[in-house]
Amino acid sequence: MPTVLDRRIDLIYRRILWPLLLRLPPETAHALALTALRLLPALTRRADPPELAVRLWGMDFVNPIGLAAGMDKDAKAVLGWQMLGFGFVELGTVTPRPQAGNPKPRVWRIPHKRALVNRLGFPSEGMTAVERRLRSIRADKRIVRLGISLGPNKDTPCDQIAKDYRALVQTFAKHADFLVVNLSSPNTPGLRAFQTASRAEALLSEILDALKCLPQSCTAERSHDVKQPSRPPLLVKLAPDWVGEELERTCKVLLDLGVSGVVATNTSADPSLLAELGCSIVGGVSGEPLKLRSRETIRRIFRFTGGRLPIIGVGGVASGQDAYAHLRAGASLVQLYTALIYEGPGLVERIKRELTTLIRLDGLKSVSEAVGVDA
Ligand SMILES: Cc1cc2nc3c(=O)[nH]c(=O)nc-3n(C[C@H](O)[C@H](O)[C@H](O)COP(=O)(O)O)c2cc1C
Repeated sequence: MPTVLDRRIDLIYRRILWPLLLRLPPETAHALALTALRLLPALTRRADPPELAVRLWGMDFVNPIGLAAGMDKDAKAVLGWQMLGFGFVELGTVTPRPQAGNPKPRVWRIPHKRALVNRLGFPSEGMTAVERRLRSIRADKRIVRLGISLGPNKDTPCDQIAKDYRALVQTFAKHADFLVVNLSSPNTPGLRAFQTASRAEALLSEILDALKCLPQSCTAERSHDVKQPSRPPLLVKLAPDWVGEELERTCKVLLDLGVSGVVATNTSADPSLLAELGCSIVGGVSGEPLKLRSRETIRRIFRFTGGRLPIIGVGGVASGQDAYAHLRAGASLVQLYTALIYEGPGLVERIKRELTTLIRLDGLKSVSEAVGVDA
């Protein structure tokens, strides 16, 4: 049951904050929200129902709902996200050197479709600034798991891209509970080409080597949990736009290389989806129109890999039902971004409440029992 506080948060967002935020350009509203989250007093976070706990990659997650990459690119509000109820947060995408991203405007809202279109192009303060911020977050105040999404600088030549990822892995392995190699942003020219089986194999084996070669001392700082594995799991973030059997070929490479999991999916760059939205802008589509494509991608990956490649499912999740359907399609954890803009800060607690109800109605003891049952 929602508490009085939950209802008030929803009401204040819908009646007061959303109409105000809607008057501002999307990036200004985003910067304001991040500042507010950073300044929030340290409220006590509610404990999550035990059914929502997930154990994955040798780690415990207090619940399966995470913040997707891109919302907090520079690690500005980690404890704020924790207070909103997330079980994990994926920071970034961080690039090695600072970069401004594409010229503005580069984010558009499509409210009647509950969608966003963006072509941000990885604006990032760069790995040195983000690492400094991560050092200052005290592990003892943190119960959420932290993932860090890694991406190359825009001006890095294609044949040097592995060097960027290696530098990022070396910088962030000690801070992250998991690392994500982002190969699927549609807004960095040439990046998605590295998702094809042969190019993914060459690039990822170099990145995995860099991770394996790190001395134990480089990874020790991250453990606020002695049971954690000594090196963070390495995941790959994939697109929802695949032709023929290419997705299956790439999954085979990921399994053969020993990649720990995938994040599925990033935004869609399919022109037909943009056309369906009546949108003449070029960029990546997120939110409700992406939901079924993402779910189908999750299902294909789960089916093809027989569940051996854990999936973080993301794309269009806006309710407990959506999260449950992504889990049943094969995701072990779920993330969201766009729905948070439209629904406000009460969304995470609402999704967890709805998800708990659905699990109990189906007679399951744990959210993990639902993974892949519809695949
Ligand atoms: C404005 C914006 C910026 C994003 N930036 C990133 C990013 O830097 N790295 C990344 O891996 N995904 C990024 N994403 C994609 C999201 O992480 C997510 O995969 C996608 O939006 C689908 O989820 P959603 O429908 O819940 O928004 C971004 C999405 C949006 C809307």
